[in-house]
Amino acid sequence: MAIELPIALPDTLLSRLSDFLELQIGLHFPRERWRDLERGIAAAARESGYKEVQAYIHWLLAAPLTRTQIEGLASHLTVGETYFFREKRSLDILEQQILPELLRARAPAEKHLRIWSAGCCSGEEPYSIAMLLDRLIPDLEKWNVTILATDINPQFLRKAAQGVYGEWSFRDTPGWLKERYFIKRQDGRFEIQPRIRRMVTFSYLNLAEDAYPSLVNSTNAMDLILCRNVLMYFAQERARKVVDKLHRSLVDRGWLITSPAETSTVLFSAFTAVAFPDAFLYRRMVNAGPQTAAVTHPVPWYQGDWEATAPRAPAPAEPSEPAAFSVALSTFAPEVPYEAVAEQATESEDANSPEHDEHDERETPQCKARACADEGRLAEASAWCEKAIAADKLNPAHYYLLATIEQERGQNEAAERALGRALYLEPDFALAHFSLGNLCLSGGRQREARRHFGNALTLLRACPTDALLPESDGLSAGRLAEIIAAVQASLPHAHKVHKELAT
Ligand SMILES: C[S@@+](CC[C@H](N)C(=O)[O-])C[C@H]1O[C@@H](n2cnc3c(N)ncnc32)[C@H](O)[C@@H]1O
Repeated sequence: MAIELPIALPDTLLSRLSDFLELQIGLHFPRERWRDLERGIAAAARESGYKEVQAYIHWLLAAPLTRTQIEGLASHLTVGETYFFREKRSLDILEQQILPELLRARAPAEKHLRIWSAGCCSGEEPYSIAMLLDRLIPDLEKWNVTILATDINPQFLRKAAQGVYGEWSFRDTPGWLKERYFIKRQDGRFEIQPRIRRMVTFSYLNLAEDAYPSLVNSTNAMDLILCRNVLMYFAQERARKVVDKLHRSLVDRGWLITSPAETSTVLFSAFTAVAFPDAFLYRRMVNAGPQTAAVTHPVPWYQGDWEATAPRAPAPAEPSEPAAFSVALSTFAPEVPYEAVAEQATESEDANSPEHDEHDERETPQCKARACADEGRLAEASAWCEKAIAADKLNPAHYYLLATIEQERGQNEAAERALGRALYLEPDFALAHFSLGNLCLSGGRQREARRHFGNALTLLRACPTDALLPESDGLSAGRLAEIIAAVQASLPHAHKVHKELAT
């Protein structure tokens, strides 16, 4: 048995350090976790080349942390405990009740679904959701499914994007899982099927610090958020703020799933707590105050051909490239031609048309577009954007908003066109260059993506780092430059790109 060494660092220093980390990263280290803090900070000091842990801590405390320092510390101070189909009871409820209800509601019209695994660790949680959806939706290729998975620890994110796991990630999982969704490698590890890996987009996001909900990082209009075994590492006040932002990231009637250990009537008072046998889950109900509801009977959602849902033969092995570790990008595939939807939405909303309420600031077409986008009504959002453009054709912000909405709808060509117009009107629009880079990246055009990211970086470096970028929901120039640098670093090297282009 390992012998626990006594805590060696002075209490005063540990106390200052834990206050500092709480403020800067949101990581909470009460006295009971000081041993973990000591161990983690000693490893971080070694990595930074410090022989003296105390000297390293004094150096950290001297100034606000940079993003690189935050990432480095997060790699040593976060807890990476996770496995496939963890806390199976919640996932059973998801599979038998929540997802079927959502799918039934969405099947007749816009077949879209937005899910966020917040604090996704090395990917086992979002991939479990992707597998559930694969089992539940017989015509998955017709659906626009976004599974966004975010974490503060870049090492976890890199492992997640690789999608290669050892036996320990499969403790407590059903036997069929490996057979159906993994390829056994020669080194005895298991690689996730590429089609499941492609369903998930991994992205860096600090829940304590970053802006959300936001169209910019695609954290808006979620149908379902899993934030399990994450809030327990935050101080109460911080957890309250995070829960408030998660609440706003959900659509009306959207669900939040936490760990059973995190259930709290106080923390989740803005939600309706829904009691399932053996579990409480939380639901955002816009027109209902906090209340508790009980659900007992599962309802089947799919009344079509169940044959098609029978276990599928494993897909043939495909070249194994890691999933993109970058900013969140929607993976929607369009269902209905965009123009038709826009027309439809325009017609159905004539009673509320802009002419009737042009004096109220909140009622401008662009505000309505944003409000619709926040609620996941993307076709309406797009139609309001078109109205904003018709009324003010020279405003690049309207085209940028349209591009963001079109991207969420999977209308990438329309999004690119709108960004092109925004940049024609405002060539220094750094955020538009960045979005264009992301679109190129998702289309496999890496050389073009690099060019757009380069343009954005040149513009951002000419701004003060703390200058807030227009249309960004509070993103600073310095922060976007860091994000772009991280995306660039995750791209294959230039010689690999040449090879790609040659094939
Ligand atoms: C114990 S794991 C939980 C993983 C998974 N949700 C599950 O339940 O199996 C906690 C995760 O939260 C992440 N985390 C901690 N603080 C965070 C923050 N401020 N922002 C984003 N992620 C954070 C950690 O890096 C870690 O991956």
